[in-house]
Amino acid sequence: MRQQIAAANWKMNLTYQQGEQLLDTILKENIQLDNHHEAIFAVPFPYLIMATQKLAGRKNYFVSAQNCSDQRSGAYTGETSAEQLKSIGITHCVLGHSERREYFSERNQSLAEKVKLCLANDITPIFCCGETLSIREVGAQEGFVETQLMESLFHFSETEIKKIIIAYEPIWAIGTGKTASVEQAQEMHAHIRTIFTNHYNKATADHIPILYGGSVKANNAAELFNSPDVDGGLVGGASLVAADFLTIMRALKK
Ligand code: PGA
Repeated sequence: MRQQIAAANWKMNLTYQQGEQLLDTILKENIQLDNHHEAIFAVPFPYLIMATQKLAGRKNYFVSAQNCSDQRSGAYTGETSAEQLKSIGITHCVLGHSERREYFSERNQSLAEKVKLCLANDITPIFCCGETLSIREVGAQEGFVETQLMESLFHFSETEIKKIIIAYEPIWAIGTGKTASVEQAQEMHAHIRTIFTNHYNKATADHIPILYGGSVKANNAAELFNSPDVDGGLVGGASLVAADFLTIMRALKK
């Protein structure tokens, strides 16, 4: 079975103390993850080391950054490089979240650089893709997502691409309380897998976890994750409430 993943995306929420408390509450439940289950916490930069220390020694619990620079190193004030993340033990990095694309003008080509730098530093990219409402309304979502994947990812080798996690996040569903229906999510995930089959091969496509993101909640996670091509979720709002995220972790396909 492919890896099934519950990924928390805290975004720019919580103080340090609130973040500590949230992790403590979640970890107190002591959920033991199987080989094919993972829990990932994408926390703000200043909390990365704290989160790494709290998760130390727990099988398949990982800490993720929410972004990294598209430059290797140097005079880029305010940026954080993949190499710097690696040097503090970070194993994952969210890339190309729609909020980064929208508010910080991230483009497919610069995301390709970020993916390259993460892979070079043994950091697993959680690569986000997804369409706006206006694109879905005209039925152009499949081509739109294919272009995002093509321009950022498809020049990587089969070995490299197998290290990536995809998060499909329709922008109209993020933070809106408007979840894609199970059918919409499954349809798009299956399509993304077909795109990977066409550009690589079926074994590669079958290997890559594709997470759904956009208003995943405690009460809809199990239904979404049950779809054959939905391998878990990238969760914003509901990841800030310990009980909700625990329910979401428990909803991963067995
Ligand atoms: P949401 O955010 O769960 O609050 O919709 C998801 C995301 O943006 O990753």
